[in-house]
Amino acid sequence: MISIKSEKEIELMRKAGYLVSLTHQYLKPFVKAGITTKELDNLAEKFIREHDGIPSCKGYEGFPCALCVSVNDEVVHGIPSNRKLQNGDIVTIDMVIGYKGYQGDAAWTYAVGEIDEEKKYLMEHTEQALYEGIKEVKPGTHIGDISHAVEVYATEHNLGVVRELCGHGIGTDMHEDPEVPNFGKPGVGPRLKEGMVICIEPMLNAGSRNVALLDDDWTVVTLDGKPAAHYEHTVLVTKDGYEILTPRLD
Ligand code: MF3
Ligand code: CO
Repeated sequence: MISIKSEKEIELMRKAGYLVSLTHQYLKPFVKAGITTKELDNLAEKFIREHDGIPSCKGYEGFPCALCVSVNDEVVHGIPSNRKLQNGDIVTIDMVIGYKGYQGDAAWTYAVGEIDEEKKYLMEHTEQALYEGIKEVKPGTHIGDISHAVEVYATEHNLGVVRELCGHGIGTDMHEDPEVPNFGKPGVGPRLKEGMVICIEPMLNAGSRNVALLDDDWTVVTLDGKPAAHYEHTVLVTKDGYEILTPRLD
């Protein structure tokens, strides 16, 4: 069942989403060579709690931290550790924050210092793939229309589309119906209605689409070791289009 949010719920989801945006913006200047991914996690958790938010990833199915931090060939769900970021890395920070019972979810890939052309290309086109999906959002759109738009853009740009993970509905729970895959056919799947809220989140690889799960049972990596990027927004379906609830503040 896909929930339809009331005006009051939407107001809370806007606040949850905005806190996600604020936390990303707060972390950005810290994403530099030398910082450990656990230090980023500690900064985020403190910031989130100071703003009356709950870091919803922490404890979710046993995930130990507030942030998922995924470096280079790590696609998603990297566990913060004493790994130090290095010049030339790309790092995805993915977070879910609860605010008064409602969740916001957004992921961004950041460059650490100077990155090579392959990584630049990957980041730019993964972010654009997200917007290609978002552009489809309005009442009447099928989930497959979004999936297809992301897939076509990614494939045209020679990026590998990870199929094992997908976007999702969101509300009082971080993961609600429907699933929002990053590949699919137009006209297929449930139709959007005003008041639905979904997370669209392409995970794209510079190389092949194939991924593996590390022994920690969380970290998803590319099988060929090439870099991956991941961009995600929480998006509300409005009367005639969409509203991004996790706007970028830069
Ligand atoms: N932000 C991720 C998502 O979109 C989720 C987190 S996995 C967790 O689904 F376990 F860390 F919460
Ligand atoms: Co998500």
